[in-house]
Amino acid sequence: MDRRNFIQVSAGAAAGALLAAHRSSMAQASSQVPGAIPEAEIKAARFPEGFFWGTATAAFQVEGAWKEDGKGESIWDRFTHTPGKVKGATTADVACDQYHLYAQDMALAKRLNQKSYRFSISWPRIQPSGTGAPNMKGLDHYSRLVDAMLENGLRPFCTIYHWDLPQGLEDRGGWPNRDLAGYYADYAGILAKHLGDRITIWAPFNMPWSFTYMGYGVGAFPPGRANFGDFLKAAHTVTLAQAQALRSIKAASSKATVGSAYGMCPAYPATDSEADRAATARYHAMNNVFFLEATMKGRYPKAFVGDPPYELMGFKPGDEKLMLAPLDWVGFHYYTRRIVSDASHVQAFGGGGFAGTEIEADPATGRDPYTRFRAVMPTEGPLTESGLEVWPRGIYDLVTQISREYDHPIIEITESGSGYLDAPYEKENGRIPDTRRIEFFREELAELARAIADGARVRSFHAWSLLDNFEWANGHTERYGLIYVDYRDQKRTIKDSGLWYGRVAASNRLDV
Ligand code: FCB
Repeated sequence: MDRRNFIQVSAGAAAGALLAAHRSSMAQASSQVPGAIPEAEIKAARFPEGFFWGTATAAFQVEGAWKEDGKGESIWDRFTHTPGKVKGATTADVACDQYHLYAQDMALAKRLNQKSYRFSISWPRIQPSGTGAPNMKGLDHYSRLVDAMLENGLRPFCTIYHWDLPQGLEDRGGWPNRDLAGYYADYAGILAKHLGDRITIWAPFNMPWSFTYMGYGVGAFPPGRANFGDFLKAAHTVTLAQAQALRSIKAASSKATVGSAYGMCPAYPATDSEADRAATARYHAMNNVFFLEATMKGRYPKAFVGDPPYELMGFKPGDEKLMLAPLDWVGFHYYTRRIVSDASHVQAFGGGGFAGTEIEADPATGRDPYTRFRAVMPTEGPLTESGLEVWPRGIYDLVTQISREYDHPIIEITESGSGYLDAPYEKENGRIPDTRRIEFFREELAELARAIADGARVRSFHAWSLLDNFEWANGHTERYGLIYVDYRDQKRTIKDSGLWYGRVAASNRLDV
């Protein structure tokens, strides 16, 4: 069976077959699908006692209430209110209305036996224009949200910045302006001071490479700039900001532990040539560990051909000391993988093209004159409806690589998931048989269990996402949730994958 047939089989089945019947056809299909994990491995997989089963969301994607209780405008508000920017012409003004429905959502997480909830705080709710005294109404909201988590047995895992920069700070130059490191550390300190009695797990930035590169390097995300120099400056400010924030958080809260929520893709060389292997190492340095290496070791990894372009980055003498702030644990997401080739012998360079959050397709000439590689997402394995290749083995490779390279740190998987559009099915009493998502998690989690059995110190897994939500520039055209959201009336319905994930969380095994 080729990939196209597999997609047809799984799509047809998801439209109505009972899960049990479907599972056997899926098992049959799986054995022939490139990258599929043998059923025996899935059945044997076990997770340690006390493992933190969780889900993740981001403020902008779920909260709505975009101008309530004194909240300022964010760059994502500005972007989504600009015609032509969002697929389907929707906005996140209401999103999942979690700002008002949070109590219900935390109770749903409890029903799924969850032990951790990774959420983010909207900076413009706390400091409407990005600096100055905090808006108490914003802080009170998050205080209530954190209490609701604790009441429902959820560990509050706070991401301090998941992309929604106050527009006021973009108006002052945005992330390429080095002053933002200090403003950001002030903001992080405010959060730790007011919420640090109950939050002990802090991740300064969600996917710093993505928002700096896509926002300033190629312009697919706000503020929509396409200038490689701006990207490099933004990246350096963010490096300084994460270290300064770690210090201000720890100064304000003695219970705080600080880690990360980096986006990472395991990278494989296109051929065995030395040039492709070196390009793959540069990809890993640039896209996966640029910010991690900076904070752990006080230096940038070898992401560039030759020395880092320090001048272009705005690097000043002494910055290596400022950027050093070793993390207590390392958090990263896994969605899909990359195949990388060398592009150091071609002269013309242009930015990569993007489709959606995760897919970058660099031109044959490579991404830029400094990193000189070309990275593509392969299509050997099946694709999700959001267009990402399903490659369960990738999480094993990534987790073991990071464990090796950073001396076996404690690891939190901060996000992973798949976009499929399954909706309530009348003939199944409104159930949502999203069997492809279940299969995605079964295989991936089996590989994660294998990495743990081989010694990786992984203590959590956060499924993206608790519920369907606003998928950035793709708006409402993608659904990643374990819970279905009907945006017409905000009705939540637990999908079959949510029920399944709840059983996994209760038993620490996958054959449930
Ligand atoms: C990740 C983002 C998250 C969501 C998922 C699908 O890259 O962190 O906000 O968009 O992708």
